[in-house]
Amino acid sequence: MRQGIIAIDGPAASGKSSTARAVAEALGFGHLDSGALYRAITHVALDEAARAGVENPLALPLDAVLRSAEDRGLMLQPDGAGFACYLDGAPADAELRTAAVTSHVSAVSAVPVVREWVNAKLRELARAGVGVVVDGRDIGTVVFPDADLKVFLTATPEARARRRLEQRGAVVDPGELALEAERLALRDRADASRAVAPLRRAHDAVEVDTTSLSFSGQVERIVIAARRALAD
Ligand code: DC
Repeated sequence: MRQGIIAIDGPAASGKSSTARAVAEALGFGHLDSGALYRAITHVALDEAARAGVENPLALPLDAVLRSAEDRGLMLQPDGAGFACYLDGAPADAELRTAAVTSHVSAVSAVPVVREWVNAKLRELARAGVGVVVDGRDIGTVVFPDADLKVFLTATPEARARRRLEQRGAVVDPGELALEAERLALRDRADASRAVAPLRRAHDAVEVDTTSLSFSGQVERIVIAARRALAD
């Protein structure tokens, strides 16, 4: 099997990142989580906004925010078997998943200069020649239109809301489920209706509906398809 690029796109909480990580591990590839870069930029923008005393990070010039992100060493860096999102010299994770970041990330990631920055970083990492599994919203449509395999992961809003609540260790009652499904739908609408690189399935992507698949089942399906696509 040769090296290559596997693109995994899909809506919020469809399980892209955990699936992409497991697929990368099975193939011996690196995993690039593009959402982590958008989240980290949003985190930096919120820091800059707090410093400037403004509430909305979009009120700031985003090229200055990107310079600050570069100064703080924001990058996906090799870490163990994969890549981790580094900021201020250490892997960032919890700070990328705060409610503030989650509620601003769609707006920040809709700005063209932000997307160009992220896309350039992803292409640079993929050019290193190691195999990569990249997950996001526009990986198969915009970032790597020539990817060796494109997967579009979906699941019903209810299944996605349930997984998100379980991940957080929150109570899974009907009220919370309905609220979380509404929050996810809001973010999907924002991601799918933006002018630049909206969330959509590439015409040549394989759609995998994970609603009633087990995690190992969905990983296995993608690994088999990837091995087939990358067979010498
Ligand atoms: O996958 P995630 O929830 O961590 O992504 C966070 C946000 O980043 C999501 O709301 C949309 C944006 N995003 C994007 O616009 N394009 C990508 N390739 C990845 C994420």
